[in-house]
Amino acid sequence: MEKKDIDWGSIGFGYMPTDYSYVSNYRDGEWDEGTLTPDHTVTLSECAGILHYCQEVFEGLKAYTTKSGDIVCFRPDLNAERMYDSAKRICMPPFPVDRFIDAVKQVVKANAAWVPPFGSGAALYIRPVMFATGVVIGVKPATEYQFRIFVTPVGPYYSGGVKPVALKVSEYDRAAPHGTGNIKAGLNYAMSLYPSVEAHEQGFADNMFLDPATRTYVEESGGANFLFVTSDHKVVYPKSSTDSILPSITRRSLVHIARDMGYDYEHRPVRFDEISNFTECGMCGTAAVISPVGKVVNTDGTEIVFGDGMEKAGPVLTALRTQLTEIQTGVLEGPEGWVVKIC
Ligand code: PLP
Ligand code: COI
Repeated sequence: MEKKDIDWGSIGFGYMPTDYSYVSNYRDGEWDEGTLTPDHTVTLSECAGILHYCQEVFEGLKAYTTKSGDIVCFRPDLNAERMYDSAKRICMPPFPVDRFIDAVKQVVKANAAWVPPFGSGAALYIRPVMFATGVVIGVKPATEYQFRIFVTPVGPYYSGGVKPVALKVSEYDRAAPHGTGNIKAGLNYAMSLYPSVEAHEQGFADNMFLDPATRTYVEESGGANFLFVTSDHKVVYPKSSTDSILPSITRRSLVHIARDMGYDYEHRPVRFDEISNFTECGMCGTAAVISPVGKVVNTDGTEIVFGDGMEKAGPVLTALRTQLTEIQTGVLEGPEGWVVKIC
């Protein structure tokens, strides 16, 4: 199969329509059989639930071309389960886990020519999304929904790639205590847009959000979880007492890898005023992979610098990143079931 004629090494994190998307609709209490479609548009009633009461959840995962030329994706079962949980939390009918995995396989296979080649640094981003298509005018869940998956080739999310980025501490919250911060609902991202635009205008790559109840503890960034490393190479990652951090699949995988590589690790509330004790900080997520954080600037202008600052990433996060990306692209064998062959 011929790959598309694209300069894979120079693409950023953007959208380009590919050959097919996958669509299934929920009506009369059940999901239809689903199909691939070349139509990348959606037509909705002006009264559709998504437009008024924001019933929308989504996922993000990637497909890769391995060294041997296979096309694989990474832990789609965990995205399927998280989307199931997200949907239930905002009263949407969950899309069955096995059907989610099957739909991912179908749509990636149909767009195999768009999966960037091994070694290009790019990947095929897979974006499952589910939203209320049924009409509602009183505040209540809709009765009709669409589940859709589109794919698009992407490069690095943070333009630095593996170069450290600077973050600012947000004066705003991205989630409410015990709200929806722990699910992947579009409404959380609407909450983060104003601080995100502000951060970008001021030259920062993203925000560090603190816990919405006390603004004492570190939560996450607009699109990734944090990992910190102590001077004696222990990996520490924040626990939320208000259940407002998204459970990142990349972070769960990296902690597993860290354990297998012999690093100590700890999941605990991380106070903002202790982060200057860490020697490394990274943002991890499907889009971000691990993006090293060189410095964090607090609301009063004080700076916390990690390791070599904006110069280069630290050794532990670099080792974890290499191990993860080599598992994802089939250079190294990962734990059973992590890498799923598509074709
Ligand atoms: N946190 C937020 C707010 C995100 O949007 C993402 C991206 O999906 C993550 C964390 C990382 O999650 P994952 O590693 O599952 O992509
Ligand atoms: C992902 O990493 O898949 C995400 O959804 C993050 C988003 C901010 C692009």
